[in-house]
Amino acid sequence: MESFDGDYWYRSPGDQGGAVCGLFVIAHPEQLIQITFNKFDIDCESGGLLAMVDGWETQGQFFPSDEDHQLPFEMRYQTYCGGEAPTVFISSQNVALIQYRIPTVEEGFHISVRMIDNPEPCNVVTMIDHGVMSISNHGHRRNCSVSIMYPENIKLLNVDVGKTHHIPTQVWKNGLTRHCKKRMRDDYVELLTGPGLDSSLMKSIQDFCGLSSRPGAAMVPLACGHAVVRLVSSGNYYNSVTFGFEGLTDDVYVQYATKQCMD
Ligand SMILES: *[C@@H]1O[C@H](CO)[C@@H](O)[C@H](O)[C@H]1NC(C)=O
Repeated sequence: MESFDGDYWYRSPGDQGGAVCGLFVIAHPEQLIQITFNKFDIDCESGGLLAMVDGWETQGQFFPSDEDHQLPFEMRYQTYCGGEAPTVFISSQNVALIQYRIPTVEEGFHISVRMIDNPEPCNVVTMIDHGVMSISNHGHRRNCSVSIMYPENIKLLNVDVGKTHHIPTQVWKNGLTRHCKKRMRDDYVELLTGPGLDSSLMKSIQDFCGLSSRPGAAMVPLACGHAVVRLVSSGNYYNSVTFGFEGLTDDVYVQYATKQCMD
């Protein structure tokens, strides 16, 4: 795992029983990752292969999930060997992954990794266990997930979801509504938890829509592995959510983990 600008060399020590290696790259939430190949020497005939993944993958699960990524899967997972080296790669979010299997000794690749600014972050992975974050759809039809790699307590600090139109036509009453998904609302923020990376396979613990700037109006423990705050947007509203997050105390973890990890 790497989280800094720089160059990276990989030279194969030889066949490792067909094992696939992965270089997981993570940048700050408001950055994208640019990867340039300076050298690419991976022979197809011996079974060598390199995949550029726009996101992260572990155990067959991807972040961002299909419902959150703007590109179709074929464009997010591209494989290379032989004469065709990858062109300059720019990720769609702050995480990217290079997977490779290089059975021939001394073959390998050399890359330069640069972080570039992303003024409108949507999907984000964070490995920090406490802080405050905001997500917005900037008026677009898109879904955005912030995935925190730990069990967390989520406090919604400011919510404006499914209320503010491009041109305000109505004065809305303040307040958060629960179960917006069940009420067939197209715009909502949901809090999910689960052991894998794919938010579409996680358990949705609570969902909200409406307007609230009352700090701590909702505080939800997410105890099964990862904690995800997911903003679903139809494109009909300007949605934004600011939330605080902090690690769970042992007793809260014990109280919720088993329940939330069950199917
Ligand atoms: C966003 O997520 C919802 C529900 O998970 C899904 O129905 C919708 O198609 C997604 N939107 C986009 C733009 O992918």
